[in-house]
Amino acid sequence: MNIAATVWWQAGTIYQIYPRSFQDANGDGIGDLTGIIGRLPYLTRLGVDAIWLSPIFPSPMADFGYDISDYIGIDPIFGTSADFDALVAAAHGQRLKLILDLVPNHTSDQHPWFLESRGSRDNPKRDWYIWRDPKPDGSAPNNWMSEFGGSAWQFDDATGQYYYHAFLDKQPDLNWRNPEVRHAIYEVMRFWLRRGVDGFRVDVIWHLIKDGEFRDNPVNPNFNAGRPPHEAVLTLHSADQPEVQEVVAEMRRVVDEFDDRVLIGEVYLPVERLVAYYGKDLSGANLPFNFALLSAPWNAREIAALIDRYEQALPLGAWPNWVLGNHDRPRVASRVGAAQARVAAMLLLTLRGTPTLYYGDEIGMRQVAIPAERVQDPFEKNVPGIGVGRDGCRTPMQWGATDNAGFTSGEPWLPLADDFATDNAAAFASDPHSILSLYVKLIDLRKHTLELVFGDYVPLQTAGDVLAYLRVYDGRALLVALNFSSEATSMHVEGEGGEIALTTELDRRGENVSGVLELRGNEGVIVRLR
Ligand code: NOJ
Repeated sequence: MNIAATVWWQAGTIYQIYPRSFQDANGDGIGDLTGIIGRLPYLTRLGVDAIWLSPIFPSPMADFGYDISDYIGIDPIFGTSADFDALVAAAHGQRLKLILDLVPNHTSDQHPWFLESRGSRDNPKRDWYIWRDPKPDGSAPNNWMSEFGGSAWQFDDATGQYYYHAFLDKQPDLNWRNPEVRHAIYEVMRFWLRRGVDGFRVDVIWHLIKDGEFRDNPVNPNFNAGRPPHEAVLTLHSADQPEVQEVVAEMRRVVDEFDDRVLIGEVYLPVERLVAYYGKDLSGANLPFNFALLSAPWNAREIAALIDRYEQALPLGAWPNWVLGNHDRPRVASRVGAAQARVAAMLLLTLRGTPTLYYGDEIGMRQVAIPAERVQDPFEKNVPGIGVGRDGCRTPMQWGATDNAGFTSGEPWLPLADDFATDNAAAFASDPHSILSLYVKLIDLRKHTLELVFGDYVPLQTAGDVLAYLRVYDGRALLVALNFSSEATSMHVEGEGGEIALTTELDRRGENVSGVLELRGNEGVIVRLR
């Protein structure tokens, strides 16, 4: 089998770009499309196969682009429609696929659809959003909570009803039970697919359909006071409703009207529920994002257990995927520490399924502490001080040691990490032992190794701090052994032994392994077995 000739979103690695923070070309302190075009060669050297851009559409930026006011335009902050076409052409010219963010659950409150909808109770677009009468005492229709704090219902004085918003009040939810809404968003999808995009990552896809009767959500018996307030109620009736699968399948059919595209769903649910988003007979999302690694306790036993759970839950023929970081969660290098970030990289690139990498993780970017006066994230502003802020994982890409790390010639919209003079892409590119060099080697090895792409995942017994597994294809096997501790250890290798193909320290290549594999602290090793 020739890996390059297989389905790109199965064999390839996806790289998420948060456009505001990747590369600014016009000096306004905010990244843009022209900036991204200039950095594509970096991505091809890294070896990734597809880029996913967080939203680039016109937006008041209340939630930095996840509040869209025009689904088929480009926000001037990011560039022009011509810049977008240039990006598609440049990406494709460099054999990179381009995935856009589709945000169908809600629009901006400035979207013309919502302006019409709130215009009057009998406006033809009234039912495009979710309007409900107050309770007799004037209070909100039910107890549903906004993920960004407070009630999910906003009272509209002019028309005397509440509208529902799962996120900010500036992000009213569309009514996906209305066929006109579905049609309108499917047309948006076709618009971008015709423009050449290779697929979508669909924002909060499990939220699209809500309970038809708007029943109260049950109280969360395990709520703990240090957690964000919306966790006080469970989302039993406000998300993950059975009828949502019909919508996911419809979206998939739209994507499948075009050749070789992908539908990725953002789904934060336990794996047993998550896998439902592959759809009946795999008619749903190609890849419902698997975020299990984002919150798992970082130890060998827990990670081994969650891989097993996921592998067992996957429907027959479903293609797995793994995510280590994104624009909503703390940086992996801060979650697990710099030394373990290398182990995490090896895990991500050797598990079975499509890996998604978050910009900057390949250079070990850390969570940056944001001074109160520079906070941008609406979640942190609404729910301050308990650590929910997302700015720290969205800081500008650290390209080099020059001013503002080479990100902008202006004032960056978020502060840079103070380690950028030493920890940056340019310095790491010329250091053969850097984490960036490790990512390059891992991605390259994966690209050229059938076992890593198509091989079965065979867990080996996890002993102590070592997570070990085989990837087996056509009688050939690689052994992956990851030491989650800073202490040296060893593991027994059965059979004929083998030869080291790669270590997280980028040494020991070609070393013979037989009987026992020695592992240094924080070391991961890939052995090609005989
Ligand atoms: C999920 C996105 O990843 C997040 O950044 C955003 O705030 C919410 N959806 C609302 O769109």
